[in-house]
Formats: sequence, C-alpha cells, structure tokens
Amino acid sequence: MANRGNFSGRIGFILAAAGSAVGLGNIWRFPYLAGTNGGAGFLLIYLVCIFTLCFPVMVGEIAIGRKVGSDAYGSYQKLGGGKWGYLGLFGILAGLFILSFYNVVAGWAFGYFLEISFGDLLDQQDFGAFFGNYVNDIGPLFLFSLAFMLITAYIVSQGIAKGIEAANKIMMPALYLILIGLIVYSLTLPNAMAGVKFYLIPDVGEITSRTIFYALCQAFFSLSLGMGALITYGSYVTKDQNIVSSAAVISIADTSVAFLAGLMVFPLVFSLGAEPGQGPKLIFVILTQAFQNMGPIVGRIVGGSFFLLICFAALTSTISLLEVPAAYLVDQKKFPRKAVVWSLAVGIFVLGLPSLFSQGIVPALNKLPVHNSPDFLSFVSDMCDISLTVGGCLMCFFIRYRWKMNNLNEELTLGNPSFMGSFIQKYINFTISWVCPIVLSILSVLVIIDKFFGL
Ligand code: PFF
Repeated sequence: MANRGNFSGRIGFILAAAGSAVGLGNIWRFPYLAGTNGGAGFLLIYLVCIFTLCFPVMVGEIAIGRKVGSDAYGSYQKLGGGKWGYLGLFGILAGLFILSFYNVVAGWAFGYFLEISFGDLLDQQDFGAFFGNYVNDIGPLFLFSLAFMLITAYIVSQGIAKGIEAANKIMMPALYLILIGLIVYSLTLPNAMAGVKFYLIPDVGEITSRTIFYALCQAFFSLSLGMGALITYGSYVTKDQNIVSSAAVISIADTSVAFLAGLMVFPLVFSLGAEPGQGPKLIFVILTQAFQNMGPIVGRIVGGSFFLLICFAALTSTISLLEVPAAYLVDQKKFPRKAVVWSLAVGIFVLGLPSLFSQGIVPALNKLPVHNSPDFLSFVSDMCDISLTVGGCLMCFFIRYRWKMNNLNEELTLGNPSFMGSFIQKYINFTISWVCPIVLSILSVLVIIDKFFGL
C-alpha cells in the first residue's frame, strides 16, 4: 500500500473527501432542486436521507476501500471474488459519465467567473436571455471546460498527498469563507425573510413522491456515494483512523454547505421578487441579477468571488471523479499514473462534448424522446443519479451477504476501539442490513420508472 501513496493524516483525508462531496451538487444543483421541489419540504427529506441512508453507505464504502487498499474494482473483487468486481466497474463507469457532464457545467461557472470579474456580464439587461445564448456560445465554453479538465488532471497527476490533499487544504476553507460572507449580505436585503421562510418552514402538503426521489438522488450525488469514489479515497486512509467519526464530519461538512448555499440563494431570489423554481439556470440568472444590483464595483467583486467559489467547489469534486478511474488503471493495469491521468482527461472531455452541444446548438441533442430529460446533459445526469442509488444499494447487499457484517465491524474497530457494542455500531449494522437495502431497492425501481416514463 505504501507505494500507492496515502493521505498524510485525518485532516487531509477529511478535507479531500469533503472536497469531493462539496461541489456543484451543493451550490448549483441543491438550490435549484429545492427551488423546484417545494423548498423546505425538499430540505427536510434531504436531511432524512443523509442521516438514515447516506451516512451508513459512506461508512461502508470507506471501510471497504481501507480494508483492501485498492481501487473500486480491486476492492470488490478481492473481498467478494466471483463477479463482484463488476460492481466496482459499474461505479467507475458512472464516474466517467458524471465527470463528462460535470466538467461542462464547471466550464459554465468558470466562464461566468471570468465574464463577471473581467468582462461586461453585469451590464446585461436580461440575464435569462444572456444565459440561453451563453450556453450555446460553444467556442469559449469549449476552451473553459477544456481548461477545467486540464487543471483537474494536473492536480490528480501530482498524486495523493502533494496533489489532491494540498489542493483541498487551500480550497475548502476559502469556500466556507466566501459562502458565509455572501449569506450575511443576502440576509440583509429587503424581503430576504420570505426566502428564509420558503426554505425553512416545510409545507407537508407540498411533499410528493418526486420530492422524495429528487432528494434521495441529490443526497447520493452530493455525498459522492454509490460509485466508488469513497472506496478509492478510503484506500488511501491509514488503519489508525476512525472511519465512523470521519464519515460523520464529511457528511456534516457537505450538508452544511448545501444548507448554507440555500440560505444564500433563496433570500436573494425572494428579494428580487423572482421565481425559485427556475431549474438549472437558477443561480446563473438570479444571482447575476442580484450582483448587478450591488453596483458595478461591489457586484463585480461579490459576483466574481461567488463564481470563483463554485469553481473551487467543482474542482475538488472533479479531482475525485478523475481519481476513481485513474486508481483503477494504476492499480489493476499497472499503467504509469501520469499517462493514465492525462489520457483519461482527454477521453472524458471528448465524452462530454455531446453534453456541451446539448443546450440548443445541436437540436437533436436538445430534445431527447425521454420523459423528464429534455436535453442530453440532463439525460446523462439522470442516468448517473440512477446508477448512484443502485450502486449504493448493491454495496449494502454486498456487505450484508458477501463480506458480512462482522468483517465490516472489525474494520471499523480499527482506530475506534470503543466501536463494538456502541449505539453507532448497532445503528450502522441495522441500517446497512435492513433500511438501506429495502428502501434503496424500492426507491431505485421507482426512480427508474419515474425518469423513463413519468409516474
Ligand atoms: N459530490 C459532488 C457534488 O456534490 O458536486 C459530485 C460528485 C463527486 C459525485 C464525486 C460523485 C463523485 F464520485
């Protein structure tokens, strides 16, 4: 294990895993999903999913990775034998597709950062129309998303401690600081409290089956679960670390960023008298309007910082998304790390081109004949959502029926001697044995039906 590299310690691992979790999912996707799915009701279900389903899955993934000290494929294969390695490969494949569209959205955010800080974006009259044109201005976006992928590849090519960990140690604290500053600002705006109410006071009548599906998928996506990212990161964790407490810190860090992002976005939306249910363009349209209202200088600074924050958040996630297939090729095929990382980066960038072209410029990619997934980018994102919940569900089956609970417990006792017999042990064992397999298999089937046919 020594020659694969390790995180230098507990903080390094927690920051890197929290960096993987905190990303566009928290700042871009969480607010718009909450906005289209009832606000506070969505938040409530989301929190329930995090603590009852996602936290145990996260503990399981990290434990599997650390036990074997290998990539997602190698870990399942070594512990399970037979065809279990395919579960790892399934996750790796899902990761490739997530990164392909994620990098496109990161490119949008990178472009907004540049256009607000150094261009004339804030002089626009109609930000909705601007966004519509912007996502079809393929030349610059091609370059922005290529740049984003190359930065990701550079960091990952530097290895675990020097690349991934060092980048996260700088970016994660910066992200919190910028976010808190923006919340303070947005809460002082007129009518901000209407946004706070929308976001924090649930209306149970607004909660539908779709609220539950979206909240579940978002919780998995946000915590980077179900595709082996945390198995891979877990494989770089040393045996003296307490996996359960680290997973708790990572879950709380991620959930707090999503929560804070909502607390920043909805007061702004309501102070502008705008509609919260605008979908993926929400932060690009509404927030730029808010930044414009701050005046040319303050708007440039606050807006620029905000989109820089999104880029930081996205980068710590793209790093982990690229690390998953890279670890597989390095561990299993013994390819040199640098060559693997750069070739993957180019390949995944190309895989993302249909998503880049799907916002209108290529009509065939803009309207797919699938319920609820109007464009190719959304379609890939929906398919990835499904594979994450299915992947998480299968991981629970794997632990329960193949690896066995006592082996999980043994691994979790390392670095945490009081684990055996504790409440948390019983909670994790119960949720992984019963709650997650049952709830996740039912919900996964319903999500598939909903995404393809509409319920
Ligand atoms: N958790 C990331 C986000 O919320 O933006 C997305 C993600 C990263 C999903 C890494 C899956 C993953 F393995």
